[in-house]
Amino acid sequence: MTRKIIVFGSRGQVGQKLMSFGSEQNFLIIGFSHRDLDITKETDVTAVMKDYDCDLIINAAAYTNVDGAEVEKEKAFRINSDGPAILAQACCEVDIPLIHISTDYVFDGTKDCGFIEDDANAPLGVYGDSKLAGEKAVRELLEKHIILRTSWVYSSSGNNFVKTMLNLGQKREELKIINDQIGCPTAAYDIAKTLLELGDKIFLQGPKVEWGTFHYCGDTELSWYEFACEVFRLAEDRLGIKTPRLYPVSTNEYPTTARRPSYSVLDCSRIGRVFDVYPAPFLSSLSQVIGELKTLNNIEIQKS
Ligand SMILES: NC(=O)c1ccc[n+]([C@@H]2O[C@H](COP(=O)([O-])OP(=O)(O)OC[C@H]3O[C@@H](n4cnc5c(N)ncnc54)[C@H](OP(=O)(O)O)[C@@H]3O)[C@@H](O)[C@H]2O)c1
Repeated sequence: MTRKIIVFGSRGQVGQKLMSFGSEQNFLIIGFSHRDLDITKETDVTAVMKDYDCDLIINAAAYTNVDGAEVEKEKAFRINSDGPAILAQACCEVDIPLIHISTDYVFDGTKDCGFIEDDANAPLGVYGDSKLAGEKAVRELLEKHIILRTSWVYSSSGNNFVKTMLNLGQKREELKIINDQIGCPTAAYDIAKTLLELGDKIFLQGPKVEWGTFHYCGDTELSWYEFACEVFRLAEDRLGIKTPRLYPVSTNEYPTTARRPSYSVLDCSRIGRVFDVYPAPFLSSLSQVIGELKTLNNIEIQKS
């Protein structure tokens, strides 16, 4: 039996990968981009759920501009908190599960080993606050939910650190990059694959599914500076572009509008124990994305 999955936010980094990878699986994936449907419009959401009679909702829609959220607080909360609440309520009414994506930025970064799902939340900025409010709404309104927290998302499309580095690297001789914030970069493709594996397990396990919050990220912890070094090393090798001079700097030397956790590594043991899903190897995922950038011609490549 082919299961029907609705993806909201289908033009985002994760949304696009869900659409392309999902079509290779035994699922019927129906995607709604922001232009097609605004998740904060309750009547539109309810109408779509009724029309499509689907088996699972995946919410990949979000307000993801961490600095922007500091000045657009109301908008960030509307999309990241009210939107998931509307989706959870709509799922509850038709009795279908919701997989919702959240973030490592619900933590304050004051641990020195990976954050587990039950660690105390203390976001440092509006983005994390709004995502945490979205998590709470989903938990309160819908029993059949999975909240998948992930971190440092990158892909060959959309706005992300890998593309920013490669584009800046084409324009500047040197780049200063923060070396005292540590996290785990996660490829959007690996998140999409995990979301669909969770979907599969939800359908297979039926009433035995263990609902709740899970962590999933790439298998390697790095600073942004170390991440950039790997990006340029692979890009020089795979794309033949020149590496600018890279300088590690501290957060104090590179102030941003929003505060970010200094350490936001997610411990992914629980998702392994419960669903047999494990972090993907960082270097092969990054290499895959760099390869896609070459095919898509998605960055301005100037040969060295
Ligand atoms: N990016 C990261 O580094 C990161 C890190 C940790 C967790 N996450 C989480 O991972 C998930 C996916 O992130 P991503 O990087 O794929 O995000 P993304 O590329 O920014 O995609 C989010 C999508 O949501 C859409 N959207 C925004 N408001 C909407 C609304 N009201 N109704 C419907 N769609 C709306 C956006 O459309 P428009 O662009 O047209 O507005 C965009 O296509 C999010 O929950 C995010 O919080 C991301």
